[in-house]
Amino acid sequence: MTAQTAAGRTPLIAGNWKLNLDHLQAIAFVQKLAWTLKDARHDFGAVEVAVFPPFTDLRSVQTLVSSDDLPIRFGGQDCSEHDSGAYTGEISAAFLAALDCRYVIVGHSERRQYHGETDEQLAGKIAAAHRHGVVPVLCVGETAEDLETHGPSAVPVAQLRAALAGVVAGQEIVVAYEPVWAIGSGQAATSDQAQQVCAALRATLVEVLGEEASAATRILYGGSVKAANVAGFMAQPDIDGALVGGASLQLEEFASIVRYQKHVGTV
Ligand code: 13P
Repeated sequence: MTAQTAAGRTPLIAGNWKLNLDHLQAIAFVQKLAWTLKDARHDFGAVEVAVFPPFTDLRSVQTLVSSDDLPIRFGGQDCSEHDSGAYTGEISAAFLAALDCRYVIVGHSERRQYHGETDEQLAGKIAAAHRHGVVPVLCVGETAEDLETHGPSAVPVAQLRAALAGVVAGQEIVVAYEPVWAIGSGQAATSDQAQQVCAALRATLVEVLGEEASAATRILYGGSVKAANVAGFMAQPDIDGALVGGASLQLEEFASIVRYQKHVGTV
C-alpha cells in the first residue's frame, strides 16, 4: 500500500523546529527519529519526512543524513531574497543549497509578524530559492481578526497570489496553510475548515499556474497538528501533508504523525 494521496501527490510531513534545539540536540534528535522510523521506512516509503532546524544546525544535520543515508529531508526556516552582499544576519538560498537543503520555509507568520516581512519581499525570497534549486514552502494564513473581518479564505488566497507573482508553472513550490489563530494554541482548525481554505488555495493555483501545476502542488496544513488529529487532515482531498511546530519536537509524537495512516479510522 503506498501512502500517496488520492490525487497522486506524495505526502509531506514536516517539522518546523523554530528556535529550538542546538546542533548537538539536533544530531541526537535526527538520529533517534531515523531509528524510530526504521519500520515506517518500509510501510510508509512514500511519505516524505522533513525537518527545519535552526541555521546553525544545518551542517550537522546534513553530515548525519548524508553519512548514514537517512531518508529524512531538511531545509532552512527562512532565506534572504539576496544571493550575497552587505546584508548582515541574512542567509542566502545559495548557502542552503550548498548544504543540500531541499526546502526553505518562506513567509511563516512569525516572520511576517515579528520581522514585518511583506508579500513583495516573500516573492523575492521565492525567486531566490528557485534560482538555487531549493523548493520554497510558502506559509499563508489568516489571523483571528482577518477571519472575523474577511472570512476564512480571503487573506490566505491574497497572500498566495502575491507570493506567486514571479512563479511560473514547472517551478516547484509547497504551500502551507497555517491559520495564525491555530499556531501554538492547541486549537487546530477542523479538517473541514482546513479543507475549505486549501480548496480555495488550489483553485488559485489553477488560475495562476494552470491545472497541471496545481495538481502537482502539495498543500500542507499547519497549526496545532498532533498525532490525534493528523489523520483527519490527511483524509481531505486538498491536504497533502502537515507542517508541525510544537509536536515535531516530541520524538514519539512526531513519529506517530508520520505514521498517520495507522490511525485512519480513529478520528
Ligand atoms: P504548532 O504546531 O506548534 O501549532 O506550530 C505550527 C507552525 O507554526 C508550523 O510552522
